[in-house]
Amino acid sequence: MSENRISKVRAREVYDSRGRPTVEVEIRASAGVVGRAIVPSGASTGRHEALELRDLDSTRVGGLGVSKAVANVERELAEAIRGRALEDQVGLDRLMIELDGTSNKSRLGANAILGISMAAADAAAKSTGKELHQRIHEIWHDLASDDPGVPLDPLLPMPMVNLISGGLHAGRKLDFQDFLMIPIGATSFRAALEMTLDVYRSLGAVLRDAGDEGVLVGDEGGFGPRLVSNEQALERCLVAVERAGLRPGVDVAFALDVAATHFLDTDTGCYRLNSEGGSLLEPEEMVDRLVDWVDRYPIVSIEDGLAEDDWSGWRILTDRLGGRVQLVGDDLFVTRSDRIARGAREGTANAALIKLNQVGTLTETLQAVLEARRCGFRTVISARSGETEDTFLADLAVGCCGGQIKVGSVARSERLAKYNRLLRIAEHLPGAFAVGLF
Ligand code: PGA
Ligand code: ZN
Repeated sequence: MSENRISKVRAREVYDSRGRPTVEVEIRASAGVVGRAIVPSGASTGRHEALELRDLDSTRVGGLGVSKAVANVERELAEAIRGRALEDQVGLDRLMIELDGTSNKSRLGANAILGISMAAADAAAKSTGKELHQRIHEIWHDLASDDPGVPLDPLLPMPMVNLISGGLHAGRKLDFQDFLMIPIGATSFRAALEMTLDVYRSLGAVLRDAGDEGVLVGDEGGFGPRLVSNEQALERCLVAVERAGLRPGVDVAFALDVAATHFLDTDTGCYRLNSEGGSLLEPEEMVDRLVDWVDRYPIVSIEDGLAEDDWSGWRILTDRLGGRVQLVGDDLFVTRSDRIARGAREGTANAALIKLNQVGTLTETLQAVLEARRCGFRTVISARSGETEDTFLADLAVGCCGGQIKVGSVARSERLAKYNRLLRIAEHLPGAFAVGLF
């Protein structure tokens, strides 16, 4: 037997940043090394995502247990993959997809399958003395090298960082989920992070000065202040950038994750803004609102400006703003190559958010990145609101030349773990930073 075979598979329930159970997988290679990974978990989950298998047993951890997924890893999946070569990530992932047999991994659970997929990549890296991002880059290179025009060199990503949280991530009044910044003027990853920290600190002071003592942070570390409107969040961010001595639109630009799926009124097809007395906006009116903001604030990226199945609204949005800003599909695309391809065909969006657990294997994640690149779309490699100390995402962003990363804010260690990992990787990749995107 070659040294790089799967000899043992273990799994357990561990807890994520919201204290919810999630799946950790360990894969022992025959050489003796152990690869390990913890699966993340979302809150503003899209309808078309792969299924996260939960026990739904209300007598344990509020029904959120993942013991069935753990058992699926240790029994059926372990049996199928034991003895397989760790070098063949694509074959391993394909085998698990076929074994599951459903279109959304609902039989064995995307959390079970993804845990193995990630841990296998980690075990393969360790078995050969490579860094994880190097191993991911090898797989990426094999998948992408036939496509001229797709970037192949590993790259430190530009961060898109949460400043203020609303929506399902911060229980206050804002409808829009994330108000983010992009340090567009930075020329290195470290400089990007320093600028971000300056703005974050400055925003804390701005919010306190405005009377919001005891500012809470949301699930992703962004501030969760009491504000009177969605737009006031942008105004506060603008003041924070200026007070940090940075130039809005030159050093720092803004991004929004509207997460509009989660305030769509399904009866009317309109968008309900609770922060504005429950007023209902037609898709065209939502687009008008976003265009107005782009006119008045240095916004360079808008994610999920409309809902996950509002393809016609998305087309209007793309017609009006696609030439001016990055329009990112998250719930719209759910890291699925077929939905990204449809987006390109129908002229909706111009970028894709990429989340491992939306699709459920490393291979399919890389294929979605590749599909996006083939379509001329940018990619943003993204964490979930439920994260852990696992830093796989940082290596993924570098290894697949993702260009941008979205991890949340610069508070809470499950977020900083990824940034700190990128700082370490940056020491080995000097100069490889995604400049000039905006
Ligand atoms: P989620 O949110 O992880 O709660 O789905 C992240 C996002 O919408 O980008
Ligand atoms: Zn989103």
